[in-house]
Amino acid sequence: MQLINGIKERRSIRKYNSDKVSKDIIEKIIDSARYAPSWKNSQTARYYIVVDENVKSEIAENATLNFSKNKNNIDSAPVLVVLTTVDKISGYNPDGSETTSKGEHWQSFDAGIACEAFCLTAYEFGLGTLIMGIYDEDKVKEILSLPENEKVSALIALGYPNEQPKAPKRKDIDEIAKFI
Ligand SMILES: Cc1cc2nc3c(=O)[nH]c(=O)nc-3n(C[C@H](O)[C@H](O)[C@H](O)COP(=O)(O)O)c2cc1C
Repeated sequence: MQLINGIKERRSIRKYNSDKVSKDIIEKIIDSARYAPSWKNSQTARYYIVVDENVKSEIAENATLNFSKNKNNIDSAPVLVVLTTVDKISGYNPDGSETTSKGEHWQSFDAGIACEAFCLTAYEFGLGTLIMGIYDEDKVKEILSLPENEKVSALIALGYPNEQPKAPKRKDIDEIAKFI
């Protein structure tokens, strides 16, 4: 039941207070997130924890595709987590051939599961998160000197919430589920 509460009550947080998040708590969140399921347990998710204000500002300023809301979201949060995934593993055989007809699809799929595990665990520690998909991948990679063989799967703002947003309305079950 507690798990269901967490799933339902976690919200995207876009306003944070200035309290720092300790390295210890961030490591505890990653410790939990690494139990997320992944393609053949390949565990391709990687976490780059940006706490340096200058680096964070550079991403906010130069890697948000002029989407000012995300610039503000990143500026507001004390921590920016850059979630990446290693290429050509999820969905691929050891010889590099595709296991299914869905190509790179499973890489993002694994990233999404890891991302939700990260956000739910953060929520358990009283922290807020915001998953962001609007960013300039090449710029983020350049700013952080990320490895060539990793994709930036999402940016996640992290910090102590300074707002309590209401849940955006969810679709009704009969709109999204069909019993066959
Ligand atoms: C893949 C993905 C990308 C998202 N990108 C952004 C974004 O770039 N900026 C933003 O403010 N919110 C972003 N969101 C947050 C969604 O708008 C939010 O999850 C949704 O409105 C539901 O609200 P809730 O998370 O509070 O339940 C993203 C969420 C997901 C899952």
